[in-house]
Amino acid sequence: MTRAVKYFIFLLALLPFAVLCWGAVANTLGPDPADTLATETGEWAFRFLLLSLAITPLRAIAGWPKVFPYRRTFGLFALFYASVHFLVYIVFLLQLRWSEIFEDVLERPYITVGFTAFLLLIVLGLTSTKKMMRRLGRRWMQLHKLVYLINILALIHLVWILRTDLTEAVFYASILLPLLAYRVYRRYVRNASKHINLSTSN
Ligand code: HEM
Repeated sequence: MTRAVKYFIFLLALLPFAVLCWGAVANTLGPDPADTLATETGEWAFRFLLLSLAITPLRAIAGWPKVFPYRRTFGLFALFYASVHFLVYIVFLLQLRWSEIFEDVLERPYITVGFTAFLLLIVLGLTSTKKMMRRLGRRWMQLHKLVYLINILALIHLVWILRTDLTEAVFYASILLPLLAYRVYRRYVRNASKHINLSTSN
């Protein structure tokens, strides 16, 4: 992909953040700006997680090999929006009452789940460099499979928050589940074809 396309995607990914910052400055985020900021940043974190997960099937099924480097880019944007989401929670929702963070993490299951997803995402972000890829070797692949768990935790976090009206969660689930099913299918087909190759070569 050309450098121009890379910059364009980078700017496009930052656009929701810019819009939210502008909304905060111009006071157009509705009656409860902190709530809007928390909801929007959480949703963008989840959208980028899903985008990152969609890259592998897009490459394989749609035959778009050039999209592959964006798996990491979108993953890092998910981490970026999740970090802003966490900051909004600490600064605006908890108003820097630090001791309550521990209480929330321990006592409110949807916070426990969101926080776990966030910590795992940080681990993946820190190990996403080429240097770490080389250093961890095969273990890198194993570690980065955590992205599936992170997506599932994000969905649970969302379901727990929404409780009754699950329309939004159903929407996210309808994207996530086929993306996960694709991995299961690919693993099954790969194993099956390996098995067939072995038995025909024997
Ligand atoms: C990968 C990490 C995370 C993702 C993908 C995520 C995703 C989301 C999403 C999509 C929402 C919007 C729910 C709605 O539509 O109302 C949300 C809300 C929320 N999240 Fe997260 N979240 C993550 C981590 C966290 C963490 C670490 C915390 C705090 C420790 C947190 C606290 C909250 C809170 C308090 C809300 C409710 C905001 C409100 O409606 O007032 N989340 N999250």
